[in-house]
Amino acid sequence: GLPARVRIHEVGARDGLQNEKAVVPTEVKADFIRKLADAGLRSIEATSFVHPKWVPQLADAERLFPMVSDLDAELPALVPNERGLERALALGVRRVAVFASATESFAKANLNRTLDESLTLFEPVVRRARDEGLHVRGYVSMCFGDPWEGPVPLPQVVRVCTALRDMGCHELSLGDTIGVATPGHVRELLRLLTEAGVPVGETGVHFHDTYGQALANTYAALEHGVTTVDASAGGLGGCPYARSATGNLATEDLVWMLQGLGIETGVDLARLTAASVWMAAHLDRPSPSRTVRALSHK
Ligand code: HMG
Ligand code: MG
Repeated sequence: GLPARVRIHEVGARDGLQNEKAVVPTEVKADFIRKLADAGLRSIEATSFVHPKWVPQLADAERLFPMVSDLDAELPALVPNERGLERALALGVRRVAVFASATESFAKANLNRTLDESLTLFEPVVRRARDEGLHVRGYVSMCFGDPWEGPVPLPQVVRVCTALRDMGCHELSLGDTIGVATPGHVRELLRLLTEAGVPVGETGVHFHDTYGQALANTYAALEHGVTTVDASAGGLGGCPYARSATGNLATEDLVWMLQGLGIETGVDLARLTAASVWMAAHLDRPSPSRTVRALSHK
């Protein structure tokens, strides 16, 4: 059966804005995050403490975080290494995420490391974060396909997931970075993870909508018992270090489906849509979300 409630992990301000050509002013980002919280989202990924040359769009993390830290929402942030964690701790960040890859090519492109070197990079980060009482999420990118390597063998994905859990990550997020997954593929990976002893309650899904499969994939994951779903308001998103990655599953599309299924999210769809329309005006292009378009043209 399907869950009674889904926890939406909103990634628009991070995954979405990291991929914008134009750098969005810090005040606009803060207003956006505030509107997302007002719409009822309680887990809003705010920014990344990565190298500012690698992702200039998020180089204002130090200025942004204090502008939103009063909100009644969890505000997790990405940290690739100890330097990133230091920066996050200095601001009082309480939830962090490390981000691994299921493939060598993306580990190299995104972290300038081999896959195993990147896991070694994360070990002291996760240990220290846990010692400080932080909640740690472990992303795994390219779970269903890689732009350089093509199909990704599922045992390779399971190995990285298991390594992150053994390291101490409280939760995983399975990334379909380039949006190539289909529901059968999702079911198969979740089945293998369950077999490997990875609890489905501690596993989120992170679908990009490149091929229009993100909602169908989410439904397959919900049927398997997944209750944490990543999505980005208005369908913002992509990844600057992955060719052919487009926006994430739009939060509005997700909420529309979940409402129809009678699944609780705590999100006010009208307010959320208004936030995305507002952001689209700042970015000077319409939201790709079908639900946003339908609801805003009524
Ligand atoms: P590197 O060049 O190998 O860095 O980059 P390094 O460790 O050799 O350090 C070089 C210099 O950078 C040093 O300075 C460090 O202090 C500095 P120097 O001594 O030369 O003056 N430095 C930093 N400065 C500020 N903050 C830091 C930091 N770290 C080092 N944290 C690194 C390695 C990991 C830093 C780099 O590759 C990087 O920042 N990568 C981030 C890429 C990224 O953010 N990608 C997008 C997020 S992942 C994603 O979107 C996928 C996801 O959505 C899931 C999915 O869809 O699949 C999560
Ligand atoms: Mg992503």
